[in-house]
Amino acid sequence: MDFVVNGIAHAVEVDVRTSLLDLLREHLGLPGTKKGCDQGACGACTVLVDGQRINSCLALAVQYQGREIVTIEGVGSPEALAGIQAAFIAHDGFQCGYCTPGQICSAIGMAAEAKRGVPSHVTADLCGETVALDHDELRERMSGNLCRCGAYNGIIAAIGEVFVEGAPC
Ligand code: FES
Ligand code: FES
Repeated sequence: MDFVVNGIAHAVEVDVRTSLLDLLREHLGLPGTKKGCDQGACGACTVLVDGQRINSCLALAVQYQGREIVTIEGVGSPEALAGIQAAFIAHDGFQCGYCTPGQICSAIGMAAEAKRGVPSHVTADLCGETVALDHDELRERMSGNLCRCGAYNGIIAAIGEVFVEGAPC
């Protein structure tokens, strides 16, 4: 199968039943994406495909050939942190860090969804072209990403700093 991950092309021979998560971690040497529940409940495995966030544990790798896959390794590096990564550090948005790659990839996808007007459960105006991200929108939209350490206040502060006008929220 042929994949493009973080802008790099890979050709690998894998079982057709391999999940995207296992492809990344076990076959492409990209352990940044984490396996938490392995059943779509925690968000630790969130990656971006064509700019949209998905749970890679629920995705069969074979479906994502030729798509633009971005993992936390493609968001930034220790030498060149992305703004959202620096904000997580500045706001103590983690303790153990296990959920953090998923939180960050999810936040990037979430901000893009709001920008193109995708409503959430708490969106009041369903006709807007974009959705303003306030505190409640952020909490609702990030509710699929669980943090066992309970670093939620720092996570929301970090995401707010980068993606919300007029933050801190
Ligand atoms: S590991 Fe994919 S949602 Fe938990
Ligand atoms: S920082 Fe430990 S699970 Fe979120």
